[in-house]
Amino acid sequence: MAAILAKEGHYLATMEAFLSSLEAAEKRFDFVEEMVAHVMKNMFKGGLLRFRNYRNATPLLRVLGVGSGDGQIDLRILDVISSAIGCSKIHATILEPDVELMARFRSRVSPSPEKLEGKATFEWHEMTLEKFMESSPQIQQFDLIHFVASLYYMDAEQALRNCYSRLAPGGAIFCTLVAEESFFSKLARKLKGKINLGSINKFYTEVDIESISKRNNWNYEELKKCSSDADITSCFDHSSTAGGLLLDFLTHCQDFRGTVDKMLFKEVMNFLEEQSFTDDSGRKIIKPQRIAAVIYK
Ligand SMILES: C[S@@+](CC[C@H](N)C(=O)[O-])C[C@H]1O[C@@H](n2cnc3c(N)ncnc32)[C@H](O)[C@@H]1O
Repeated sequence: MAAILAKEGHYLATMEAFLSSLEAAEKRFDFVEEMVAHVMKNMFKGGLLRFRNYRNATPLLRVLGVGSGDGQIDLRILDVISSAIGCSKIHATILEPDVELMARFRSRVSPSPEKLEGKATFEWHEMTLEKFMESSPQIQQFDLIHFVASLYYMDAEQALRNCYSRLAPGGAIFCTLVAEESFFSKLARKLKGKINLGSINKFYTEVDIESISKRNNWNYEELKKCSSDADITSCFDHSSTAGGLLLDFLTHCQDFRGTVDKMLFKEVMNFLEEQSFTDDSGRKIIKPQRIAAVIYK
């Protein structure tokens, strides 16, 4: 079965199908904004101000976005940071290996978004975190490194260790993950060994990141969960193209319906039936949950 990330156009189409299945897609922006505002507050309270006085002297807060996608979330994060640091400036280093997504992000920034105008500079690296770590000088440090739904694509412990070594004292690594015991982590367990997850290494949850942090003696904080209803009714309609794309997004396959064996297809459809509830209008709804976590240095 083909891995979806290998077919970038298809992957983007499946992601769009998932985003349009969400009842309140805006919620994911609000969630990340609220969590990053909390992290910034703690960085100032607990560490960052002790080392570098941003409000008065140091001119630059350095941000590393890992797997930034089309930049919508990154720009919200930068707005939050910009409000938190007042008159200081931001330098954002953006890592995104997907050509199409990187182009979309760059086009959002040119000309600079209004709120960030004059406040942030950008550096673009169309590559994976692993490649960036190999190619960038060890001395380059960051104050905030974020992984929004991107840690799954790499070996999390290796990625976090590399990032921690590039974190300035008082800095933080912010991640969003799938919540343990939520829809995506249960589905991943169901599909384990049966489906090639392609570029996805593992659907890391807060339990994984907490144990990585303990092993490495890092200061870890688990933040809030956020759930958003997704309408998966179309997955049960065999003639629906949107349903096919949504199924491909959920299972990380290209043409799940057409390529998977009948037993596994039935098993997955039963699982979707079990995990969903039917609302008053007869729609089948799931409640995927995300969680945010942070590691402070
Ligand atoms: C699920 S998307 C999340 C995008 C964005 N952060 C958002 O929340 O909208 C995951 C992103 O990670 C990128 N990615 C995959 N493997 C990566 C790696 N090894 N290093 C950096 N980014 C990676 C993908 O290209 C994709 O844009």
